Amino acid sequence: MAQIYHFFILFLLSISIAESADPTGEFCNKATKIKRPQISSNIKSLLSILVSGTTKNGFTISSYGQAEDQVFGLAQCRGDVSQEDCSICIQDAAKEITKRCTNEADARIWYDYCFLRYNTNKFLGQVDTSYGIFYWNVNNVTGVEDFNKSLGNLVDEVSSQAVKNGNKGLGKGKKKLSDFLTLYALVQCTRDLEPLSCAQCLAIAVGNFPTYCDNKQGCRVFYSSCSLRYELYPFYFPLDAQNTKQDAQVKYHIVSKA
Ligand SMILES: *[C@@H]1O[C@H](CO)[C@@H](O)[C@H](O)[C@H]1NC(C)=O
Ligand SMILES: *[C@@H]1O[C@H](CO)[C@@H](O)[C@H](O)[C@H]1NC(C)=O
Repeated sequence: MAQIYHFFILFLLSISIAESADPTGEFCNKATKIKRPQISSNIKSLLSILVSGTTKNGFTISSYGQAEDQVFGLAQCRGDVSQEDCSICIQDAAKEITKRCTNEADARIWYDYCFLRYNTNKFLGQVDTSYGIFYWNVNNVTGVEDFNKSLGNLVDEVSSQAVKNGNKGLGKGKKKLSDFLTLYALVQCTRDLEPLSCAQCLAIAVGNFPTYCDNKQGCRVFYSSCSLRYELYPFYFPLDAQNTKQDAQVKYHIVSKA
């Protein structure tokens, strides 16, 4: 009996190890079918380069294959995430993207901690906001005067960090709104972008705030070139210990122009 029990525990353990986390979102571009098996094989090789490089450096761009079968890839972790979390995230991303986008040559996958994409078309260095995912806390901000203005100021501040050389596209910061409330914000551009392109992507993200994030207690925007998040609780690393996360109902919306 004890042995069976033991076996069962091991079995459960192996399931939980083999299983990878669900992404925040993915985009399998249906207009880009994989035309030759060589492309699938190149994607597989590219993914292993992206995973090992990103585990080491937090960011990798690479390509694999020749001529029409060449695939381009980019993988990046959020700049504040530990190497261990980054490694787990990017391995999950590589596993899930081929599972979910089996037939597409243009595929992208988002997690809170990392992002990965590949394409047979070269996309590096270009601002891409054709596909966006918006998550927001359904609860409205109450009792905070000029929330929108404070948010705007904080986002401006962290955006100017993100476009500075040496910051690897990352900006993060907080602002005290009252004795009880602190606003936290983080922006991240992909590291293949020039500062001007990073700024452009973030401006488009903020431009969508009135539509999806208006007066919301928290909101997240995910594009292929940048992402942006704000919350009334600490979420970026190192974690601010003073506050703890409240449970909140979150909804999301996908905008696709691709
Ligand atoms: C938040 O405000 C919007 C617009 O005023 C309203 O439609 C919505 O029901 C509010 N949400 C909650 C959870 O009260
Ligand atoms: C604040 O509200 C104004 C008017 O709706 C809008 O143009 C602006 O983008 C908002 N700012 C933020 C940060 O949501």
